[in-house]
Amino acid sequence: MTLSEGILQQKLAQPFRYFPRVTSTNDLAKTWLMQGAPDGAVVIADEQASGRGRSGRLWRTPPNAALALSIILRPPAALLARVNMIGALCVFELATQVGCDDVGIKWPNDIQVQDRKISGVLVEAVWMQDNLDGVVLGIGVNVRNDFSQTDLRELAASLEYVAGRPLDRAELIKTLLERVDFWYQRIDADQVFDTWRRRLNMLGHPVEAEGIRGRALDVTAEGSLLVEDHHGGLHEVSAGDVTAFTGQRSTE
Ligand code: BTN
Repeated sequence: MTLSEGILQQKLAQPFRYFPRVTSTNDLAKTWLMQGAPDGAVVIADEQASGRGRSGRLWRTPPNAALALSIILRPPAALLARVNMIGALCVFELATQVGCDDVGIKWPNDIQVQDRKISGVLVEAVWMQDNLDGVVLGIGVNVRNDFSQTDLRELAASLEYVAGRPLDRAELIKTLLERVDFWYQRIDADQVFDTWRRRLNMLGHPVEAEGIRGRALDVTAEGSLLVEDHHGGLHEVSAGDVTAFTGQRSTE
């Protein structure tokens, strides 16, 4: 079903702005945040012309295919790292709820089903000098994106194809926002970190992060990844991409 303002109005409890086509919902949400948007307000789009991913990458949101939404939150600055965790946790729960098996979070916040990415999270903070004005939690979910003719076909997946049935995007947005509300109300509880950590699918496995090859040992409360290299050295990686590394262990 096509998304529309009227359909979302019937389903959502929080203030929202819906657009058929935008550049990036994160950009519109940042503007609204700076204009004084209430905590929990949401920008939703059917299509993004220049959606943004992490590390300056493009995030494709074709029409009638995906979820693209950005939630404006105003958490205490000390808990900023938990917004990322909440974003990933909520999509994890959404995917599980629609019947996907083998759902996991690839550090820091890619949500995978059967090792293929179905969603990404982009958190952007807005500061006023040293004070946190607010945060935009941008979430993109592949619902019926067709990757079969693209170079992402082995790496990406869509919820509908995995669940094996049609899914209503307005209903998915409602469920996702309910989960965000649940976790955001608990942002100061260690349960956020503990649950996010339990859902990570790489701990204990060989990885390559920011040029360091080794084993993903653990994560810190701030959300950094601890990688043990082949010499026993410990590295804390705070951002960047992690690749599953299955090459031979070095014997040097
Ligand atoms: C990533 O995995 O690289 C993060 C992707 C985040 C995409 C979402 S879609 C909604 C919001 N608006 C954007 O421009 N980006 C985020």
